[in-house]
Amino acid sequence: MMRRIKIITLALFAALSLLPTAYWSRVIGQQPQVTEAPTGFDNKTNGMSDQATFDHDREVFEERETAEEGLGPVYNAQGCIECHQNPVTGAASQIAVMRAGHRDAQGNFVAAPGGSLIHDRAIDPSVQEYVPNGENIRTLRMSLSTLGDGYVEAIADETLIEIARRQARETRGEIAGQVIQVPLLEAPGQTRVGRFGWKNQHASLLSFSVDAYLNEMGITSFLAPTENTSLGRSVAAFDQVADPEDAEGEVNLFAQFMRATKAPARDVALANTAEARAGAQVFNVIGCAICHTPTIQTAPPGTSFNGGNFVVPPALGNRVIHPYGDYLLHDVGTGDGIVQNGDRTTANKLRTPPLWGLRTRYRLLHDGSALTYEEAITRHRGEAGSVINRYRLLNEQQRAQLMRFLRSL
Ligand code: HEC
Ligand code: HEC
Repeated sequence: MMRRIKIITLALFAALSLLPTAYWSRVIGQQPQVTEAPTGFDNKTNGMSDQATFDHDREVFEERETAEEGLGPVYNAQGCIECHQNPVTGAASQIAVMRAGHRDAQGNFVAAPGGSLIHDRAIDPSVQEYVPNGENIRTLRMSLSTLGDGYVEAIADETLIEIARRQARETRGEIAGQVIQVPLLEAPGQTRVGRFGWKNQHASLLSFSVDAYLNEMGITSFLAPTENTSLGRSVAAFDQVADPEDAEGEVNLFAQFMRATKAPARDVALANTAEARAGAQVFNVIGCAICHTPTIQTAPPGTSFNGGNFVVPPALGNRVIHPYGDYLLHDVGTGDGIVQNGDRTTANKLRTPPLWGLRTRYRLLHDGSALTYEEAITRHRGEAGSVINRYRLLNEQQRAQLMRFLRSL
């Protein structure tokens, strides 16, 4: 019986691979004028800033702060670089942060007092946070890479909405990425399609920088001038610097740095092997590429986003990127139960993580709980159910090809 299923699947597989173009690898986006975005792990600008400006912004991103400079009172690490460093500044790391909360009688998520982020460090032991009893929904969140995120910010909302529509259409609703509109801190009252963070909690790199400066480092800035609490209790007695602590607007330089980074580069030698190329076909044919979208195009230069605060520069506009992610929320059976900027339907959804740069990390999934590609893949269920069933029916050679392809990302 199993043998028969295998033979049928192999026949299906062979038929599918004869399709003229792999449907899911087609370019999704706006214009036919196509320029590939530059890639590299080399601390070089993508052309948006000149190299001297980029180097200066990078140094600001690499600074480690002290309590005298505004760090804390509650915080997770001393600098952006602490968690965004491997293999170059701005990328990811093994550092994870903690979130916690509980559900109320109606089943709605309620964050722990003072917010679901539980800070791991404090400048004084009396304000140290911890997971209180009863906050029984807990999750780790792995650090994400910010490389190439300027291109992601330059994707039009409509492009992401179109990817979601197409998924639903082509899979008869089995796979249907959720789009959420999130507030823009730099444009009060306005929203945009979320695309950054495991929960798509932000749509702009300035909003994320402001959030991270406050929540990861405890440094207030002009768009978030109010200090965090320690589990809801004021920490004012320990705060040494007047708010906003980021008097020079470093948050703008963090955003400018990330916008000017190149996209993560492939391992070209490996990617060009016959085995990895065959693996890319497997990835498309069995449907991984439905969510892990191989190719997206950015909006044209001059397009205004984020309430007019981000006009797509020539270096970022009309660029083709290969993120292997759709920047949409899905339920693939791994949900962490936490609600951030979305509504309650997002509790068990996560953004498809872009797989570009995958070979630079091995603690996979939002909580780092899968350590091999095989584990990460077989943990997918829910919306990914049919795709994973097709994965299970691959023969050994096809699986090996898929793994080589993933290793080349
Ligand atoms: C303690 C570790 C830590 C520090 C310090 C830190 N980050 Fe992060 N960063 C994370 C984690 C963890 C995530 C994923 C968070 C999530 O979505 O829940 C993240 C995500 C991001 C993202 C989203 C990337 C994407 O493509 O979705 C951006 C942008 C970012 N951080 C910028 C910054 C900036 C700027 C700083 C410094 C002000 C900073 N981070 C400091 C751990 C950190
Ligand atoms: C329905 C959409 C969907 C499909 C189909 C899908 N994935 Fe995913 N993938 C996700 C989501 C969402 C996550 C994040 C889950 C989490 O963190 O808990 C993920 C996580 C991953 C990760 C871990 C990445 C990281 O940075 O931690 C890998 C590797 C991966 N997928 C590979 C695959 C492969 C290979 C296939 C095809 C066999 C596939 N996925 C099919 C949505 C999908």
